[in-house]
Amino acid sequence: MPDGQSFYITTPIYYVNDKPHIGHAYTTLACDVVARFMRLDGRRVHFLTGTDEHGQKVEKSAAAAGMDPLAFCDQVSEQFRVLANALNISNDDFIRTTEPRHIASCQALWQRLVERGEIYLGSYSGWYSVRDEAFYTEADLVDGKAPTGAPVEWVEEPSYFFRLSAWGDKLLKFYEENPSFIGPESRKNEVVSFVKSGLRDLSVSRASFSWGVPVPNDPAHVMYVWLDALTNYITAVGFPDVQSESYKAFWPANVHVVGKDIVRFHAVYWPAFLMAAELAPPKGVFAHGWWTNEGQKISKSLGNTIDPFELIETYGLDQTRYFLLREVPFGQDGDFSRQAMINRINADLANNLGNLTQRVLSQVQKSCGAAAPALGALTAEDEALLAQARGLLPVLRSSMEKYELHHVLAQLWAVSDAANLYIDQQAPWTLKKTDQVRMATVLGVLVETIRILALLIQPVMPDSAAKMLDLLAIPADARGFDAIANGPIAAGTPLPAPQGVFPRFETAKA
Ligand code: MSP
Repeated sequence: MPDGQSFYITTPIYYVNDKPHIGHAYTTLACDVVARFMRLDGRRVHFLTGTDEHGQKVEKSAAAAGMDPLAFCDQVSEQFRVLANALNISNDDFIRTTEPRHIASCQALWQRLVERGEIYLGSYSGWYSVRDEAFYTEADLVDGKAPTGAPVEWVEEPSYFFRLSAWGDKLLKFYEENPSFIGPESRKNEVVSFVKSGLRDLSVSRASFSWGVPVPNDPAHVMYVWLDALTNYITAVGFPDVQSESYKAFWPANVHVVGKDIVRFHAVYWPAFLMAAELAPPKGVFAHGWWTNEGQKISKSLGNTIDPFELIETYGLDQTRYFLLREVPFGQDGDFSRQAMINRINADLANNLGNLTQRVLSQVQKSCGAAAPALGALTAEDEALLAQARGLLPVLRSSMEKYELHHVLAQLWAVSDAANLYIDQQAPWTLKKTDQVRMATVLGVLVETIRILALLIQPVMPDSAAKMLDLLAIPADARGFDAIANGPIAAGTPLPAPQGVFPRFETAKA
């Protein structure tokens, strides 16, 4: 991968009407894995997350809490920072839409749209869902509700409109010219057919409440919360200063990772706003699926939301990170179950990679003088395992390019499986009695395989990988992916006494 090439990745910014749940944790975690992977692979990464603080939904939640909206936002936004810390998220910035830099950026984007004749004053009459912060037509409604099941209310008020209807053909052309813009494929078909069915002009201001970014030159209006929210992606890299180093380096973003429910806003409205303002649209939007809890839809009313803090507390941070990304193909819906979590912790982590590491390092400690073993002549089996481990990086890169995070993990574990098979076949504990040179070679091949696995699991399990790399005495400056090619560890390097990295989960604790 070209050194230093920039990579800009974003999470959605989260509404502060509610405390963080597994959905927020999941999106942020997935972005963190990609961001860490790209950094370790030598890219210059900008990873953004934050909170979406304006609009009627937040205004109502603040009122319900008896608080001033900004004080309410301060409090809930902080919870999202706490979650990011608890999840060991490596974000480079945390944006809040109530910050002055963002308000200035929204107003500048608005001005660009006005100057280009893309916004006009009219009046809106139709349905609005506060929960979705979205406008619906009569035809959209299902049994008097939004298609998402959210309640709607009738709204009639003066409103500014964005000429979205003029952008349908240009959007279709853009999707055609950029076939990887929307992932996964199934989402793309959904978006294309929505655009083909015809776009209506979009109401982009509200006049019946005031918790939002004031429309320039017309303070009776605040901007529609989605126009405000989407703009965060350019605010954070310096917009409106399009000549700034950060804007030039990072815009257009490589990918906006979003949940499947908010694809339309990101893949239709957002590129249309940007193209209309003569700014570049993002390079990609990737939508992940939704979690259910033990087979049930997650909802506050059912009282079955999953608290990410509780998961970390019960199962461990890296275990939670691993499970959420391994269990379900990224892009598809999936089910959370405690039993599945425990199975993964015990089978994949404790018994597989954990046991491999423990067996190899304990024998090195006892039989190789607690130092990295010397590799002798290599057999075909040795070469095969090393080739598999050394060949991982390009394979993982191509899965990462498609955001197939579950494949990244499956491929790493295929090598761990192969190493477990190899150790059983080569039986270094028997070789100790018969052929110590061969024993050292077998252990050396395994140490090298474990070193490569530890380097490559860093994006998903940063703390556990660091412990493994410490056990291998790998210095901090030799932990990037470029170090993969620099093995094996010099024979004779002293290695510390091994300690378990992946404990079993004892069911009694559950
Ligand atoms: N504020 C908007 C995004 C603006 S981005 C310019 C928003 N906020 S949100 O707080 O509702 O975001 C929630 C995110 O969590 C969405 O990406 C959504 O898909 C995701 N999830 C909510 N529930 C979920 C599950 N049960 N499972 C997985 N993700 C889910 O939308």
